[in-house]
Amino acid sequence: MTKRLITAALPYTNSVPHLGNIVGSHLPADIFARYSRLNGSQTIFVGGTDEHGTATEIAAKQFNITPKELCDFFFKLHKQIYEWFDISYDHFSRTSDKINKELTQDIFLQIQKNGYVKQQKISVPYCTNDDLFLADRFIVGTCPHCKYEKAKGDQCESCGQLLDVKLLENVKCALCNQKKITFVKKDHLFLCLDKLQKKLDSWITKNKTWRPTVKAIAKSWLDKGLEPRDITRELAWGIPVPLERFEESVFYCWFDAPIGYISSTKEHTKTWKTYWQTKDSQIYHFVGKDNIPFHTIFFPAMLLADGRYTLPYNTVGLQYLNFERKKFSKSQGHGVFCENLLKTDLSSDYWRFYLSFVIPETKDTEFLWNDFQSRINSELIGNFSNFVNRTLSFIYSKNKGIIPSGKIDTKTKATVTRHVKKILKYFETVELRLALLEILKLSDFGNRYFEQNKPWKTNDPNTLFVCANLVKILSLLIQPYIPKASNEILKTLQCPENNYKKLLSFNLKNHSIKKPQLLFKKLEDEKLESLKKDTSKVTEFFSVPAFDKLDLVVGKVKDVTNHPNADKLYVLTVDIGTEERVIVSGLRDHYTKDKLKGKSIAFLKNLEPANFRGIKSNGMLLAAGNSDDSIVIVLEPNGKPGDKIIRDENQSAPPKKISYDEFKKVKMVTKDKKILCEGNQLKTQKGIITINVEDGLEVS
Ligand code: 2FM
Ligand code: ZN
Repeated sequence: MTKRLITAALPYTNSVPHLGNIVGSHLPADIFARYSRLNGSQTIFVGGTDEHGTATEIAAKQFNITPKELCDFFFKLHKQIYEWFDISYDHFSRTSDKINKELTQDIFLQIQKNGYVKQQKISVPYCTNDDLFLADRFIVGTCPHCKYEKAKGDQCESCGQLLDVKLLENVKCALCNQKKITFVKKDHLFLCLDKLQKKLDSWITKNKTWRPTVKAIAKSWLDKGLEPRDITRELAWGIPVPLERFEESVFYCWFDAPIGYISSTKEHTKTWKTYWQTKDSQIYHFVGKDNIPFHTIFFPAMLLADGRYTLPYNTVGLQYLNFERKKFSKSQGHGVFCENLLKTDLSSDYWRFYLSFVIPETKDTEFLWNDFQSRINSELIGNFSNFVNRTLSFIYSKNKGIIPSGKIDTKTKATVTRHVKKILKYFETVELRLALLEILKLSDFGNRYFEQNKPWKTNDPNTLFVCANLVKILSLLIQPYIPKASNEILKTLQCPENNYKKLLSFNLKNHSIKKPQLLFKKLEDEKLESLKKDTSKVTEFFSVPAFDKLDLVVGKVKDVTNHPNADKLYVLTVDIGTEERVIVSGLRDHYTKDKLKGKSIAFLKNLEPANFRGIKSNGMLLAAGNSDDSIVIVLEPNGKPGDKIIRDENQSAPPKKISYDEFKKVKMVTKDKKILCEGNQLKTQKGIITINVEDGLEVS
């Protein structure tokens, strides 16, 4: 019996999947796993979450939680979503599990022992403001080739050149937008891909299972010539490198993530080695196109370097699904975001059916709402479900619920056999869209057979016998796509088999069935409209506390003049450490110029500039006041111009600009002569800011 180990790409834990992610690995992997089980392969299907890396660490920092808390949350949510979709994982694990740590360290040490790891010093960018080593893509600067000013450290979006972060000019940290970047020399470990080139090349050349597009990507890497690849990072959230002098380093997330497949299998069964360390098992990876190099070059290279593991038999690389002719975009609310599906009343079979139609197997494909509606109504309901329903309903109501004994004519048998063989061949070669189309052709054949033989006129037992057995065949074949409906039909049929062993035998005869249930409801326009609305909602699972969006610093008032066109306004010049800013402020009824001059104030740096009667105000000062403005007292923090005013050391970094509306969302009030905000007191490095006023005044 063939042993098959099937994997779907492990999703990152900083967002939830949209339909493009489902169709880009989990669903095709599941269809193939379900087929493999039905067809008698000894199958294990594993997945999990890919939790380590800079992106997780940074997202957690922004939300003011730990990476572990972030991953715990998203792991649960991902798992729930795949369960809802009936993705039949035998095990869904996490790369942060202990077992993955042990296995990653073990594989690394073996690779090192075999001579495929080298050490080299490299310059790593470090932001002294965030106190973080940064991955190249978190550095922005001017591209040395095209002078685009917002080029990312790894690649320039404008001219497309791959960059060396050290050659970028005017570098800034993408997180805090400050220029406090230094380059620190660090020892890093490299996987010697160059030494593995030959072995990889001969393995890839021999391979006959990969699709041409996948092979072409792998070949293009080999043609460029492989170079040693950095496998360590200076992060806290990751798997520690088990070597002295590397105490501060963890593995690059792409080193431990694919090992997660092995760990997930090991967590699932004691027999894991019979899948991962024997020649006769077939390992299938289902991945999106951006992951193809990692699964055809990088991970196989690791396994070759280790020497104990089985290399993938097939890497099924998928192209992208677009949504209504554009890319899925969470920020634009453009797409179907899966957490919403769990709240709708449409079963996952509807989605699975349509997505199977548009699996991007050979090219990018489109999710189109109109197409969704018409495929469901015409193919799933009008064709497949119609054949099942008319056959079973007729037998139930007109033949006392009994499938009669009968005969199948040779021509019909030959037609059915031809279709079934074709379907099984498509499954085997992982052409899952084609397999589905062929299943629908077979059910279309069933419909025509039913119509031509008119059982309602003839009550011919042969017709009922053939149709009922064809329903059995079809529901087994379509099971990988729509498992809920398939199982419902098999239950109605009281069918004893749930595999492909006797797929082609017409063996249901003198056999009673149950009352058939309606399988699917037609998608009406109204329903479609409500689905569009409900499924495109973007959920903010974590939000940045409103205060943390304020870039507040200590400022010193250098100069005060009357606003020439408004008798309640002053124009203030304020030193904020890095520069002088001019702001317009309505303090004229409350402070004399002399009282303000030289004062230390709380200054909001990142407020969008606004025009007040002809003068541009670039920032704002904070004051406590009551509702009728009879009391207005400016905050006087201790510190020198530029010192930060914060509520918590771990608060997230503010954005570059905020609107006045965003500022208004921040609630700050006076209490016990301090300023209270989101449960904290405002402070500078010199201590808590005090203000000699009554409780309950609002600060704005
Ligand atoms: O691109 C991604 O979403 C990665 N998290 C896929 C990892 S696949 C595997 F190697 F873990
Ligand atoms: Zn920074």
